[in-house]
Amino acid sequence: WPRGTVAGAGDLLVGGVALGVVAARFGTPSYLLDEADVRARCRWFREVLPEAEVVYAGKALSCRAVLRWVGEEGLSLDVCSAGEIAVARSAGFPGERILLHGNAKTPDDLKAAIGWGVGRIVVDSVDEVDRVAALAPAGQRVLVRVTPDVEAGAHRAISTGVPWQKFGMSVQDALEAVRRIAARPNLRLVGLHCHIGSQERRVASYELAARRMVAVLARVRDEHGLVLEELDLGGGFAVPHLPDSDEFDLGGYAARVRGALRYECGRARLPVPRLVVEPGRSVVANAGVTLYRVVGVKGPFVAVDGGMSDNARPSLYGARYHARLVGRGSTAPRRKVTVVGRHCEAGDVLAEDVLLPEDVHAGDVLAVPCTGAYHHSLASNYNQVCRPPLIGLRDGVATVLVRGETEEDLLGRDVG
Ligand code: LLP
Repeated sequence: WPRGTVAGAGDLLVGGVALGVVAARFGTPSYLLDEADVRARCRWFREVLPEAEVVYAGKALSCRAVLRWVGEEGLSLDVCSAGEIAVARSAGFPGERILLHGNAKTPDDLKAAIGWGVGRIVVDSVDEVDRVAALAPAGQRVLVRVTPDVEAGAHRAISTGVPWQKFGMSVQDALEAVRRIAARPNLRLVGLHCHIGSQERRVASYELAARRMVAVLARVRDEHGLVLEELDLGGGFAVPHLPDSDEFDLGGYAARVRGALRYECGRARLPVPRLVVEPGRSVVANAGVTLYRVVGVKGPFVAVDGGMSDNARPSLYGARYHARLVGRGSTAPRRKVTVVGRHCEAGDVLAEDVLLPEDVHAGDVLAVPCTGAYHHSLASNYNQVCRPPLIGLRDGVATVLVRGETEEDLLGRDVG
């Protein structure tokens, strides 16, 4: 359990707040986020990789409070839509420290990004060069996204370094993109980018990507006479979902990637580029806990008042979660159960093989940890269920960061 400590009555404290108390006060389901944990993970990246620029991937969880916290901790921000830019703007996140990503940036995305003066735009295809150049101001910095052909990521849907998926360019196309960018007086190419996949725990994958990317930097120098100053290796650092899984070996990553860059750049007679990393989930995932109330128990199934609308990850990626009883203690023997949601499909399973006390019953509160990343941001209104609030926890105080949806919110858009 991340940072939580068991309090006297069997309740769990996160951010100094008892989870049973939060459930009673704010209702369920609700997403909780431990501010100190988010900040500590920002500092972890900055301390272990002092030479790197650390860019928070806002797709993991984007709201004004979180962007303020990561901004205050000195991180930059990765956005990929006009909506994410609107949140960044509203949080006062400096445009200069923002990177725009996306394989299909719409004209509105590009206009919003340029309107907020984003520091860098990551070009994802050869033909995008013209679309970016047509709107960009003089001196707009860009990077070129390369697919380094490294297989990584915990699931096919989040494996982005291989040639058969939609992101980035082959080396050949990247060199063509470089040529086109060089011909555009308003664009300034500052570096290359790759992101090999998500929930990847093997340090060797990132090291291989680093080596391959230096080879591309060398080709850019050889074929276009350009020595690029930045290398963005993306994010993807795995987080532990279950009590017995390990934290990502960030120290090992730093050592191996640093070593690979020094060695390969030395061999290619290139200066070592400034490293950029883009962690998303590893900044917020373990700071998040979701609270549910048990609605009923039927055989092996413990059904709760949320499900795939607030946690799509088990059904999308086969992700595994853990759950525990909070708010009261129990000395009852434990049994293995499946925690299921309220939605109208059999795949709406939140956590399998969970050991819970036998006396768990309707009205009990369950906490599911490691839900800070890609839960709030992937939430839906399936079955016209309202999306839960996001509650910040800090020094024993719980504060609503994003309020829960109401039926008025749902009906407000239904104007037919
Ligand atoms: N940089 C780029 C360009 C990305 O596309 C992503 C994630 C990241 C950084 C951050 O990756 P992270 O450190 O968070 O793994 N919905 C999926 C994850 C999709 C990730 C998309 N891109 C999930 O819930 O696993």
